[in-house]
Amino acid sequence: MKRFLSSLLFLLLIFSGCDNVPTGVIQGRVFLDANNNGVQDSDEIGINGVLVELLIDPRNTRTSTSNGGTFRFSGVPIGPDEVLVTPLAGMRISTSNPRTRVTVFKDSATDVVVGVGKSLDVGSITGTVFQDNNANGTRDTNESGIAGAIVDLTTSVGTVVTLRTDGEGIYQSNLIISGNATLRLRESCGVKPSAGSTQTTRVFVGSVSPIKAFGVTPIKGRVNGLIFHDTNGNGLQDSGELGLPGWTVYSDLNQNNQYDLGEPATATCANGNYALDVPDDNIKLRHVMNLGYTSSKAVNVVAAAQVKPFIVGGQPAPEGAYPFMASLVYASASNPNSGAFCGGSLIAPNWVLTAAHCAVIAIASNLDVVLGTNRLENPVTRIRAAEIIVHPNYTPGPEDFDMALIRLSFRVNFPTVQPLMPLQGGLSAVGVKATVIGWGDLSDGGRNYPIDLHEALVPIFDQAQCNTAYTDPENPTNGITPRMICAGYPQGGIDACQGDSGGPLLVSSSIPGLWLQTGIVSFGSGCALPNNPGVYTRVSEFNAFLEAQIGRGLASEHDISLQAGQTREGASFAVH
Ligand code: ARG
Repeated sequence: MKRFLSSLLFLLLIFSGCDNVPTGVIQGRVFLDANNNGVQDSDEIGINGVLVELLIDPRNTRTSTSNGGTFRFSGVPIGPDEVLVTPLAGMRISTSNPRTRVTVFKDSATDVVVGVGKSLDVGSITGTVFQDNNANGTRDTNESGIAGAIVDLTTSVGTVVTLRTDGEGIYQSNLIISGNATLRLRESCGVKPSAGSTQTTRVFVGSVSPIKAFGVTPIKGRVNGLIFHDTNGNGLQDSGELGLPGWTVYSDLNQNNQYDLGEPATATCANGNYALDVPDDNIKLRHVMNLGYTSSKAVNVVAAAQVKPFIVGGQPAPEGAYPFMASLVYASASNPNSGAFCGGSLIAPNWVLTAAHCAVIAIASNLDVVLGTNRLENPVTRIRAAEIIVHPNYTPGPEDFDMALIRLSFRVNFPTVQPLMPLQGGLSAVGVKATVIGWGDLSDGGRNYPIDLHEALVPIFDQAQCNTAYTDPENPTNGITPRMICAGYPQGGIDACQGDSGGPLLVSSSIPGLWLQTGIVSFGSGCALPNNPGVYTRVSEFNAFLEAQIGRGLASEHDISLQAGQTREGASFAVH
C-alpha cells in the first residue's frame, strides 16, 4: 500500500511538472585490499583521500573518502548512475572495474564497496614501546615493554593508522602503503614519551621495516589509582560500579585546592584508572570534582596501598574522540538522522549543555538526546529529556546568554566534558586552535547534513574585531557581548553551520587527551564567510549558573609520600 502511494506520488510529481526531482543516496567505502582478493578481510582498513565521482548525476559530483574510507552523495537523482573510483598512485581497484554501475532508488541509500591496492604496494611496520629506566634511548635487557601504548602512524599518502601495543609492548601493522611513514607515540594514560616521540621510517614493499622502539622515561615517582562512580556512596567499589574516564587527577603543589597550570596532572582512562608521575616526594593528591558529583566518605586507601618498584601501568586513551557529544532529536522522528536539529554536550551524568535557541523550540516530552555515537542511525542510545532549563537572561535576536540545560530522564555512563572555568581563560586565548564538532550543514545553505559527526579546527578570534564584524551601525546594541566568544579565520572557509548549534567548541586542556568546552555553537552570518567568524556562547562566564543548576561537591584528597622510583598503588577516589 505504501509502495503504491509512493509511486502514485512519483507520477503526480512528474505530471505536475514539478522540478523537485526525487532523489536517493549513494554511499559506500573504499578499503585497502592488501591481499588483493577483492573482499574486505577483517584486518583490512578503509582508506581516506581517494577520489570518488558520479558520472551520470548532472551535478557532476565528486568527493574524496574520509572517516575510515567512507564517502556519501546525497540528493542524487533516481535511476542509473556510475561511480568512478580513482585509486592513489601505484594502486589499482581489486573488487571490480573502476566504474561501478548502480541504480539509485528514491529516499534510500545504495551501497558501493570498492577495494584498492595489491599486496605488492604495502609493507609491514613493527616496533616496541618500552620502559626506558636509564633514559639512554635503547632497550636494555631489564627494560620491559609497555602494553596499551598508542602509536599514530601517518603513511606516505597521509592516512593515519592508530596502532596499539600488545602485552609485550609490541605494535604492528602489515598493511602500510610503501614510502615514508611517520610514527608518533601518543602521550596518554600512563605513557610519557622520552625525547623523540616522533620518528620517520621507510616502508618497503612486501617486507618488514626496521624495528622502531620508543622509550618512555621514568621520573621520580608515580601514583596509581582509580576514580569510580560509587553509586551507593559507601566508599567501596562494589560490583557494577564503573570507573569514570576523563577526570583530572593532580598534585596540588601550592595546596590551593584547585588545579593550576603547571601542576602534575593526568586524566583517568577509559576504565577510570590513572597513573600520575610526580616529581615531589610529598604530595597532596586531589582530583577536580566534575559537575553533578560529590565525594563519598573519604576513602583512606593510602594506608592500605602497597608500594611497588616503578612500573608503568595505565590504559590506552578512550576510543571515540568525542564520547560526550550529543544530538538533539525530535522524539517523534523514528530515524535520528532525520529528526536531529541541534547538538549538545554531556557535562554531567544526566545533564546536557546546549544553546538556548535550540532548547526554546522543543518541549521536554518531545525531545530525545542521542549519545555515544558518531553516526546518527539506529540503533543508538536515545534518552527522553525530563526537563529543559533555558538561561533566564536569554534574549533572542541579540542571542545574549544563549545557553540551556537539558536534564535527562536517567543518568548515563558516557564520559562527560567539563566546561572551561574562568581561571582557565588562557587555554582559550586569541589564536588558540579550538575544535568544533557537529552534524550540521556541510556547506553554507547546502542542506547537506552528514550522518557522521564532523570536526573542524577554528582559531579563537579577537573579541573586538569580532564585535566590529557583527555590530550593525543602525543598531549598535546588537554586538558581541562578554557572554560570547568568536572563532574562525579572517579568510573564512572553515566554520560551524546550521544544525551545529548547541554543540561544543573544545580546547585542549593542559592534560593530553582531555578536552574542555569553551563555547556553544550559537550564531554566525552565513557560514565560513570571510571576516564573519562563528559566534559561540562563552561557557566560562556561566560557571555559577551551571553549579547552581547541577551542583558540584567537594573533592577528597590523599597525602602521599614517595621515594624516587616508587609507585604508590591504589590512591583511589569514590564519587557519586
Ligand atoms: N544558529 C545556527 C544553528 O541553529 C548555528 C549557526 C552557526 N553558524 C556559524 N556560521 N558558525 O544551527
